Amino acid sequence: MEQSASTLFGARLFEDKVALVTGAASGIGREIATAFAEGGAGVAVTDRNADRGGETVRAVEDRGAEGLFVKMDVADAEEVEAGVRQALDAFGRLDCVVTSAGIEQPHTLPLDRLETDEMDRVVDTNLKGTWLTLKYALPRIARPGGTVCLVSSLWGTLGGAGLSAYTATKGGVDALTRSLAVEQGPDVRVNCVSPGAIQTPMLERFSGGADMGAFYEANVPLGRAGNPREVAAAVVWLCSDAASYVTGQVLAADGGITSKMPSANG
Ligand code: NAI
Repeated sequence: MEQSASTLFGARLFEDKVALVTGAASGIGREIATAFAEGGAGVAVTDRNADRGGETVRAVEDRGAEGLFVKMDVADAEEVEAGVRQALDAFGRLDCVVTSAGIEQPHTLPLDRLETDEMDRVVDTNLKGTWLTLKYALPRIARPGGTVCLVSSLWGTLGGAGLSAYTATKGGVDALTRSLAVEQGPDVRVNCVSPGAIQTPMLERFSGGADMGAFYEANVPLGRAGNPREVAAAVVWLCSDAASYVTGQVLAADGGITSKMPSANG
């Protein structure tokens, strides 16, 4: 099911605006970057992976928008500060910020068997990296009118055995969304999208390449995994004026899985 910001909303909602997207070299972040481009925005494509980031810039340009790759490891405060400055110097403004950079745990293991440095890496990217991006971007975002969308996970809402590090970081992202929305008040809307199982390289790694079709059919109310465009559609809606009275929300784009209580009736 192909969707685009333009056909969803019938208008180029981000004309003359600039979006910065972290983790934009792959998966959900890449689709968010191209959805902003379809809405008319210039896009700062940030990631730690320059080769794949360049591919996203070309996808942005293919949609007639201006794209710029900015090398930025979100776990590195100096790189984040310099990256935000580079984007601003190039585009002259910043209207929308989306924090999609994230990593899964290296293994699904009980807490006592996870190494402390493995926990550090997950926290540094998923939670601290989100915080750092916003620490440097928020003082420079357009106000009033700037918008922010964090990217969480269904695992911020549900518990999962062997997933203590990842779930803790994503629960933190949900909490950070609410605090920042309150802190920013009327000037900048801050929301979050919480994806379910979405077909990206991360999901491939997470499922070990196994065919999960029967599992999704049995457990996801919509009966399937999502595609990254379906998450990007939620993100660009929250970042657009169409969501002008929405702030502090964590919107699940998860096919309904977090709404489902298993029962004998299916
Ligand atoms: P992906 O692995 O396809 O893409 C993640 C991107 O983030 C990559 O380009 C990677 O280079 C970048 N990245 C990782 N660490 C970074 C760092 N320290 N600094 C800068 N860039 C970094 O993953 P996917 O699936 O697109 O995930 C995007 C976001 O969505 C993540 O936050 C993930 O936790 C979340 N998510 C994904 C789900 C899925 O099923 N794919 C489900 C729920 C949440």
